[in-house]
Amino acid sequence: MTLRYGLIGAGMMGQEHIRNLALLGDARIAALADPDPTQRAQALRVTGPDVAEFADHRALLAAGGLDALIIAAPNHVHLPILKDALAGDLPILCEKPLGLTQRECEEIERRAEGRRAPVWVAMEYRYMPAIARLIEEVAKGTAGRVQMLSIREHRFPFLRKVGDWNRFADQTGGTLVEKCCHFFDLMRLILKAEPLRVFATGGMAVTHLEERYGGRAPDILDHAYVVVDFDTGARAMLELCMFAEGAEWQEEVTATGSRARIDARMPGPTRFEPDGAVRHGQLVISPRGRRGRRVEEVATEAHVLEAGDHHGSTFRQHQEFRAMLQNGGVPAVDLRDGTIAVAGGAAAEESARTGRVVDLPDWRGLACTGS
Ligand SMILES: NC(=O)c1ccc[n+]([C@@H]2O[C@H](COP(=O)([O-])OP(=O)(O)OC[C@H]3O[C@@H](n4cnc5c(N)ncnc54)[C@H](O)[C@@H]3O)[C@@H](O)[C@H]2O)c1
Repeated sequence: MTLRYGLIGAGMMGQEHIRNLALLGDARIAALADPDPTQRAQALRVTGPDVAEFADHRALLAAGGLDALIIAAPNHVHLPILKDALAGDLPILCEKPLGLTQRECEEIERRAEGRRAPVWVAMEYRYMPAIARLIEEVAKGTAGRVQMLSIREHRFPFLRKVGDWNRFADQTGGTLVEKCCHFFDLMRLILKAEPLRVFATGGMAVTHLEERYGGRAPDILDHAYVVVDFDTGARAMLELCMFAEGAEWQEEVTATGSRARIDARMPGPTRFEPDGAVRHGQLVISPRGRRGRRVEEVATEAHVLEAGDHHGSTFRQHQEFRAMLQNGGVPAVDLRDGTIAVAGGAAAEESARTGRVVDLPDWRGLACTGS
């Protein structure tokens, strides 16, 4: 049976979801909602025919006939859309960040309390091929006990978005929430630990300086360093630079433990490679004692690579989401994971603003309320 998905938000990421869903073979977009007619028309060219079209997500929800929902609208409308969607009983895949702030995410968790259908927060970076291999090797114990984790993202500036929503912190949560919730999520997943405190320093130095939207200047960071202490004694570090599109690797993740260091390296989106060359990720395992270093290319199939900017990670996430719909089970990334990732980013934003270390709540002492 073909699963019918409703898509709310049909922009860049929404269209990546459409293309990746089509690759599953037994799933399709049956309805989409987006207030912008140009975006709807563009998305309908990707879906093909027989898709119900709505300007408002409430009309899509009221029309029914769906098996699942994907929310890929801008960050500041996640909460209002989720308020309506959570009142229904469809499984939901909601793009990161779950909300703009920890408080918004906690409200979402409260509203999901007692709900039977699962809510999965889309964190594609968990599925980036080389990063997924690093997660696997760390879980197998190859690195031993991981004490230090460093994540570096050196990439192109934020792309233009519909309505320029990503230029302002009140619509994104700030760069360290919008972009970097992925990395706080990865830190927790790799270290199997909860963040205790965060120190960050950052600013806007190169990009967006001359831009104005309705007379308003963008207020987001384009570079930052973030240091995070975890409750197991492990430490993590994030280096973000959004004016480094010439870098060989876009993401470099290094987990160093008592037995080995493991590096995962991912290039940026293939469509931005100057010569159009297809480049794949790389995993390097460097045991202590200097013997037995292994270098592995972690490739993505060409047709999957073409379906988006994330090296097949959106496809792999959809495979798992579909398996949950068909066989039951729980989301790989639940609401509490979504909340803690946002809280980490929001704490880093606060630290960069105030110059102070910001403490996080005792997550292990707080029960998760939602699915
Ligand atoms: N996981 C990832 O790697 C990744 C990558 C890119 C974007 N995202 C996330 O996906 C979401 C969308 O980002 P994007 O890059 O596609 O932005 P975009 O601007 O390209 O698209 C957003 C779309 O949502 C529509 N929209 C606005 N308000 C809406 C509403 N109330 N209901 C329905 N649609 C509405 C806009 O008209 C637009 O078509 C954001 O939350 C972003 O953080 C995630």
